[in-house]
Amino acid sequence: MKNLLSSESLSKEAIEEILQKADSFLGYRGEDLKGKILANLFYEPSTRTRLSFDTAMKRLGGEVLTVTDVHSTSIMKGETLDDTAKVISQFADVVAIRHPESGSAQRFAENSDVPVINAGDGAGQHPTQGLLDLFTIQKEKGKVDGLKIVMTGDLKYSRCSNSLAYYLSNYDVEFVFVAPEQLKMKPELLKHLDEKGIKYSETDDFKKGIEGAEVLYCTRIQQERFASTAEYEELKDVYILTKALVEKKCPDSIVMAPLPRVHEISKEVDELPNAAYFRQIENGVAVRMAILTKMLS
Ligand code: NCD
Repeated sequence: MKNLLSSESLSKEAIEEILQKADSFLGYRGEDLKGKILANLFYEPSTRTRLSFDTAMKRLGGEVLTVTDVHSTSIMKGETLDDTAKVISQFADVVAIRHPESGSAQRFAENSDVPVINAGDGAGQHPTQGLLDLFTIQKEKGKVDGLKIVMTGDLKYSRCSNSLAYYLSNYDVEFVFVAPEQLKMKPELLKHLDEKGIKYSETDDFKKGIEGAEVLYCTRIQQERFASTAEYEELKDVYILTKALVEKKCPDSIVMAPLPRVHEISKEVDELPNAAYFRQIENGVAVRMAILTKMLS
């Protein structure tokens, strides 16, 4: 695997191979990547993804270079992303990049001599998050085929639900997309599901939409993607998942979220066994260990 830039680039066989490998990496410490260097380039805020890549590399004996502040880089002097890619690939064996522009990881990869992982490109994709989400579904539910997957929140800008939905389109699942009119699921994704013959429905009615969910994937309304604060303020509290709603509408669901959580999941939901969002984190490290070894060995 040269790069991991989008979910569609992986075949179902490649996906399953990574998930199997991830399973064997849960709790693992080794020296598999001793002498290898990961460059973590994060031009957009991150807690989980960056530290998860960092942990994954270190649990395999590798080392990590990190850039988190664009203001401390030559980009501020006018260096292009293309030139940065050429430079970084002289230092590192693999690069994980997060950047606010959709398509930026692709451009970076075109100019890099080493494999590139898209760690989130604006409202584009987040393919390692999608894999860890898929891994979590498989572990928690014991299967993927046959599940009713409900995705809620900001489906227009969420790169996480976008990447996960592409992976899930390799399976026999049914989707319900619950979003306000302004934040509906991307048309390209819906077209892809049509082509694959995957059943889906769309609604803006939260209470109805989450009914009978077996996987409830909640995304936050992303303030940073809106042109005006007023538009964000209007939508920020539009859906709030409470403990009572989970118990009443989807008691057999696992509740997932890429996190961070802002307003969309009440704190009290944490008490329910359904809440899987903190269990996703450890799965993420194992999945990233699988990806890094696949790329570097
Ligand atoms: C997400 C992201 O950055 O896309 N977080 C993550 O990587 N776990 C989701 C978000 O920011 O809402």
